[in-house]
Amino acid sequence: MCRLRAWFQITACACAVSFCSSSSVSVAANAQEQPNATIYRPTFHFSPEKNWINDPAGLVFDGSEYHLFNQYNPFSDQWGHMSWSHSVSKDLVSWQELPVALKDENGIAIFTGSAVLDAGNTSGFGKNGISPLIAIYTGNGLQTQNAAYSIDHGRTWSRYEGNPVLDLHESDFRDPMVFWHEPTKRWVMVASLALKHKVLFFSSPDLKIWTKLSEFGPAGANGAPNWECPNLFQLPVANTAGQKKWVLELGIGDNGPAGGSATQYFVGEFDGTKFIDDNPPNQTLWVDYGSDFYAAQTWSNIPASDGRRIAIAWMDNWKYADKLPTSPWRGQTTSPRTLGLLQTRDGIRLTQVPAKEMEALRDEHVQMRMATWADVESMLSRRDWPETIEIDAELQLEDSQDFGFVVRKGSSYGTRVGYDATWRDVYVDRTHSGDVIVGPTFAAKHEAPIAVQNGRIRLHILLDRSSVELFADNGLVTITDLIYPRTVDRELGVYAAGKSPLVIALDVWTLKRRAGQY
Ligand code: FRU
Repeated sequence: MCRLRAWFQITACACAVSFCSSSSVSVAANAQEQPNATIYRPTFHFSPEKNWINDPAGLVFDGSEYHLFNQYNPFSDQWGHMSWSHSVSKDLVSWQELPVALKDENGIAIFTGSAVLDAGNTSGFGKNGISPLIAIYTGNGLQTQNAAYSIDHGRTWSRYEGNPVLDLHESDFRDPMVFWHEPTKRWVMVASLALKHKVLFFSSPDLKIWTKLSEFGPAGANGAPNWECPNLFQLPVANTAGQKKWVLELGIGDNGPAGGSATQYFVGEFDGTKFIDDNPPNQTLWVDYGSDFYAAQTWSNIPASDGRRIAIAWMDNWKYADKLPTSPWRGQTTSPRTLGLLQTRDGIRLTQVPAKEMEALRDEHVQMRMATWADVESMLSRRDWPETIEIDAELQLEDSQDFGFVVRKGSSYGTRVGYDATWRDVYVDRTHSGDVIVGPTFAAKHEAPIAVQNGRIRLHILLDRSSVELFADNGLVTITDLIYPRTVDRELGVYAAGKSPLVIALDVWTLKRRAGQY
C-alpha cells in the first residue's frame, strides 16, 4: 500500500509491473542553463517563433488547410500593434507560420474576429470562380467591425474599401464571430458590447450590410468586468434521440473560477434571430476551470462529413500574460479540442476531448489493466520520462481521500493532477510546479467539481513542456494550466491519502514533437 509522506514525496512500493513498451526514453542533461526559448517552448502546442500572441482568431478550414490567426505584435513580446499572425496546418497539430496577414495601420489595430469561406460568393469578393476567404475583425480606435478578403488561400489579404461594415460609435464593441445560418440563408454575426455584458446579433446577405437582430445578456458569471470573444454554434446532444442545442461561449476578462480571465458558456436555442438561454440567468457554466484558457474559438467550414466542432483557446491569463518567462516568444494556444454536448442529471453540459489528430503524437506506450496503485508507482519510477506525456487513467475509488499523478516531479517540485473525495473535485495543483515567479497568484491549486459515476473517475492528461491539460469525467470538466518546471524535474509519480484507487485501465504515452516546431 502506498502512503503519502510529503506532498511531493511518494513512498516506494514493491509490486509486480506489466510493461507493454520496451525501450526507455532518454532524458537530456540538466538544461537549466539553456535559454528559455528551449526550456519552455511547447513541443506540440502552437507558439509563434517570436513575439507576442494572444487570442486565436479567424479559424477557418478552407477545404484543404486549417487556418489559425492570432492576435500578434510583429515588433515585440509585449501586447501592442495588434495584427493577425497567420499559420496553416493540414492536421491541426503541425503548424506552418506564414507572413502576418493583417497589420495594424494608421493607428487602427486589428483586434479579434472570425473568418468564413464565402462559398456562394455572396460578398462578390470572389474572382474567376474562386470562393473568397473573408475575415471579419474589429478595428480598434472606436471599435468597429471590418472585412478583409483573400482569393489565394489566405496568402494575401485585401481590406474592403467600404470598411467599416458595422459602426455603432462604441468604444467597446468587439470580437465579431460570423457564420452562415442555413435555415434563414443569411450570415449571422455575434459581437460583444463588452462593458455592458451583452452580445448583439446581426444578419447580412453579403457580409457587408448588417442589420441588428437582437441582444443577449447580462447573464451568468457575476463580477465579470467585460464580455469578450463570443462564439456561437450548434451541437448534437450525444445521449438523446437527435436533440440539438446551441452553445454560446464568452470570455470574461477577470474573476473566473481560477482567478483572472476565463470562459463561460450558455446552452439554449437560436432561431437565426435570437438566443434563448435554457437556464436561469444567474447560472454560470465554465468551459474550463484552469487559469489558462481564454478567448476560445472554433473552426468554421469543417465539412458535414466530418461534423466536428473543434476549438482552440489562448493558453494564458490576462493576470500575468505579460510576465511569462519565455523568450523570444510569449503566448501559446491550447491543444485542439473536439466539443460535444451531453445530457447530465444537472442539465445539458459541454464536453471537450483532445481532437483525434493529437493521437498521431503518441510514441512509446505503457498500458496497465486491473492494477494496483503500487503497480503504477513502480512502473512510473522504473524509467526516465521525456517532458511530453499523455496519461489516460480510469480509476475505481476505494474509500480514497485524495490521490492522483505527479508530473514534472523532482526532489522538491512537482505538479499534482488528482481527485479529492472530500470536495468531490478534480484539480491541478501548481503550487510547487517550479521555482519561476510569474506573479503573485500563479502558484495555486485549481479545482473543478465532478460527478463520480459507478465509483469511477477518468483522468486524461496532456503534458507539454510548459502546460498541463486535464480532461476529466469524459470531458465534462477540463482544467488547463501553464507550468514552468525545472528541466531536471521529469519524473512521474502517484500519491494517495486514504486508500489507493484501483486502476481499471491506465495508458501512458510519450509524445513526439510536432513537425516544424522551433
Ligand atoms: C481578448 C481581447 C479581445 C480583443 C483582443 C485584443 O483577449 O481583449 O476582446 O479583441 O483581446 O488583443
